[in-house]
Amino acid sequence: MAKMAASLLESGEDAFRKVFKFYRRRNPPPDYSQVIDFSTGVPSDKIVLAKLDLAAVTDAEAAKVGLQPVRDWRAFGLQGYPGFIFISNPFLPGCQPSWVRQCLKTYPQKPNVCNLDMHMSPSETQDIWGKSVHSLSVRSSAKREPKTLLERLRWVTLGYHYNWDTKTYSANHYTPFPADLHSLSLQITAACGFPGFNAEAGILNYYRSDSSLGIHVDESELDHSRPLLSLSFGQSAIFLLGGVCRQDAPTAMFMHSGDMMVMSGQSRLLYHAVPRILPAPQGHMASVMEGCSLSLQDSSGVEAVSKEDWAVCCRYIQSSRVNVTVRQVLGPGQSFPETPSSHQRTDAGQTAGYHDRATDGESEKRKRSSSCDSDDAQT
Ligand code: OGA
Ligand code: MN
Repeated sequence: MAKMAASLLESGEDAFRKVFKFYRRRNPPPDYSQVIDFSTGVPSDKIVLAKLDLAAVTDAEAAKVGLQPVRDWRAFGLQGYPGFIFISNPFLPGCQPSWVRQCLKTYPQKPNVCNLDMHMSPSETQDIWGKSVHSLSVRSSAKREPKTLLERLRWVTLGYHYNWDTKTYSANHYTPFPADLHSLSLQITAACGFPGFNAEAGILNYYRSDSSLGIHVDESELDHSRPLLSLSFGQSAIFLLGGVCRQDAPTAMFMHSGDMMVMSGQSRLLYHAVPRILPAPQGHMASVMEGCSLSLQDSSGVEAVSKEDWAVCCRYIQSSRVNVTVRQVLGPGQSFPETPSSHQRTDAGQTAGYHDRATDGESEKRKRSSSCDSDDAQT
């Protein structure tokens, strides 16, 4: 009996993994009837309305970053997950394209760091967008041609660059965090009751239709009292939100283009994963794309997207999803602990990435050591 329990634990068949495998399955496709869809407004006994701080963000401040007035946002909580807030696409019509363009054209640029830097020289990864747009726009999908750099992009880090090997941030690997994304993050978190959020680190994940993101907890940030913000663009995903233990079965929900999540309080350190990318619901992408009109963009503070740039973005997001997570690493007045190695650390060994944990869902790169992690205790 004990032997069987041990082998079960060894094979990692915890409740979360079972659900992960269920939704990752392709043939036959899984039943999605239990997946919460906040976009349809269908009430569920698990969904509660989240209270926002309507006074924290003025309509002008919201519009400046491409968001609707906070009173118009549809924000939800989930029973049993205090501190978790889901905001169903609060962008102004026509304003997502500008953020998509930033994610595809601007944020992958130096000095930000991306997966391609791990095995290519800085000059080769200098202009990912510029080196990709031509073949992306003339390519016929039937032809087998080498993938462009943009299609090979898997992650970008911003601000304090996350080190995938040591699972840490450090003072000596920092580049300025993009001001526009800092400002967007500040407004969203303020509306959720967290004034003064300081966006210090960002991870962008670029998912193809067959990508997934393994079960993990984001705990490398030094101040866990600050929320974690997640934004999604392009194709949809199934997001699984679990508990503090791998044994806790997760809740499944759809994340569509423009949707946002705030993980704070007791939900800040919960296990989560993305087992599956799915085509956006009918009409969803069309409304994102149609909105990309110059007149609408003029009324907001976000920069207009040229026709040429938008054509490339559209092609890309028709088969891909981009997720941006924004993190405050340090609390007010906090600094990184001084370690002897922190002066010598280089990026040379930084070869891993999300895609260790993103491709098969089996590897869990950031283990929590808590008393309920019996599988951690066993190994
Ligand atoms: C992450 C993450 C979730 C997503 O980057 O840490 O959990 O929806 N992303 O892609
Ligand atoms: Mn995460």
